[in-house]
Amino acid sequence: RTRVGVLLSGRGSNMIALVEASRAANCPYEVVLVASDKPEAAGIAWAKAEGIATFALSPRGLGKPAFEAAIDRALRDAAVDVIALAGYMRLLSDGFVAAWRDRIVNIHPSLLPKYKGLETHARAIAAGDATGGCSVHLVTEELDGGVVLGQAEVPILPADDADALANRVLAAEHALYPRTLAEFVTR
Ligand code: GAR
Repeated sequence: RTRVGVLLSGRGSNMIALVEASRAANCPYEVVLVASDKPEAAGIAWAKAEGIATFALSPRGLGKPAFEAAIDRALRDAAVDVIALAGYMRLLSDGFVAAWRDRIVNIHPSLLPKYKGLETHARAIAAGDATGGCSVHLVTEELDGGVVLGQAEVPILPADDADALANRVLAAEHALYPRTLAEFVTR
């Protein structure tokens, strides 16, 4: 099975969806490490409680090169094949992306190429879009710019605020990410 390292910064609901899907006998990947730039992230506590290896390090006071070198070392020590970003809210440097070329995937809460970056749901509502959604894509040096591997679409309802839409999209993320990651590692 392909060895996946998940990077996250917070709640970790997408990481949980990946781990739960990986428990199916025929799943082609396993989550061997959950790493974070936020030692207090809820996702780190969940992974620990499940007995999954974790690595958490704040970049504060370290500087980006040393921080990324430590993350890179942890991923390599765990013999990670593919990195899955799951709510990882920090930009990876060009050097890190190049070192893991075509081996980093991300889930983004919009129908790319629409709404790269932050506040995706508020922007989709403000634009009057009839649908929103999420995308799993390869990570390149361009923010949210790599080739799209899979997408799921949900309706935007007249009463939606950004939180209501985010919740509907999040449910779609939890189905899309495990399926797309499984396809990606068996491509
Ligand atoms: C998810 O909605 C994910 O798509 C988004 O953050 C949330 C993380 O939730 N990612 C980004 O905005 C990346 N720029 P989770 O921690 O519960 O998986």
